[in-house]
Amino acid sequence: MQIKINNKIYKAKEGEVVLDVCKREGIRIPTLCGFEGLPREAVCRLCLVEIENAGTGLKPVRTNLQPSCVLKVKEGLEIITESEDINKARRINLELLWADHAGKCATCKKNQMCELQKLAEEYKIENFHFIPRKGEITGIEELDLIRDNWSRVVVENENPCISRNSELCIECKRCVNICPEKKFGFNHRGSDIVVGTPYEKVLDCSFCGKCVEVCPTGALTDKNDYKKIIEDLDSLKKFSIAFLDVEMEKKILDKIEKISAEKNIDKILANLGFEKIIRLKEENLEDEMIKNIKTEYAKQKKINSNDIVVFFISSKIYKKAKKDKYLDYILSEREVARLIRDKEKMREGKIHL
Ligand code: FES
Repeated sequence: MQIKINNKIYKAKEGEVVLDVCKREGIRIPTLCGFEGLPREAVCRLCLVEIENAGTGLKPVRTNLQPSCVLKVKEGLEIITESEDINKARRINLELLWADHAGKCATCKKNQMCELQKLAEEYKIENFHFIPRKGEITGIEELDLIRDNWSRVVVENENPCISRNSELCIECKRCVNICPEKKFGFNHRGSDIVVGTPYEKVLDCSFCGKCVEVCPTGALTDKNDYKKIIEDLDSLKKFSIAFLDVEMEKKILDKIEKISAEKNIDKILANLGFEKIIRLKEENLEDEMIKNIKTEYAKQKKINSNDIVVFFISSKIYKKAKKDKYLDYILSEREVARLIRDKEKMREGKIHL
């Protein structure tokens, strides 16, 4: 069938949604809850498009905005993807999502790598109409509402692999939909709804890390002792070795696309403080030679084996839960990206860790 997008005719297949046609044709539409391969939930309302003709031949009387991620194609459908009305609606929806986040970016692990932050920048969300400022909250009811919201915030750091902070959650449902073990769902009801584990128990799963990978904000992140990692990498006394899972090179480069222009992974890791980089396949981690890496390098460098720090750079974050003795840290591509971001800022004197 044929549909019209921005006054141009495109081919579409029965059952397709407008967003997918646009993606295929290179027409950009912002999305936040939508994620390739996951069910479309239409909750963020950023992918709104304007219907010019719903396929009935009649022009809608009023502006008709619909989320393109669930809008099925139909013969004769005519839509517009950019207009003043669309922009205004997207900005309001973005501002509502952003309302809970404003002011928290500086300390967020996902700073500069957050999908919501990027869109807020793109749409120049500067006025916070939905956030009461200090001193503006006068009524008891408003205060109670804020306290009530706070009472539902869950910050969990007790499981070995994933940190959760529901304050940064935008309820996009990506984690709910991607988790193979169905560990996430909605708690509470109506406007009080929050994404969490059943009865907000400590997350206990196989820690495949898929939820962290798809989370668009800092609500789900890799757990680690970040300060200690930086100290170890910076220490002149210590010798840091990175076992680099061969699949990781591309993943790291993809993650740091907007942060660093450097494309040489050895240089990137050397800048972070790694003295030795060993590429390997995960199964080879079990080799005896690798298990004895600390003693071997301690001999070679004539230092105490406690001063040899061994990292495994891999997406397999479940290894954090059952770390082999000779490994000190497991680092995902996201954590490497975070280190690169912060090293850059430290060099510019913008932060001190
Ligand atoms: S991507 Fe369509 S509503 Fe979120």
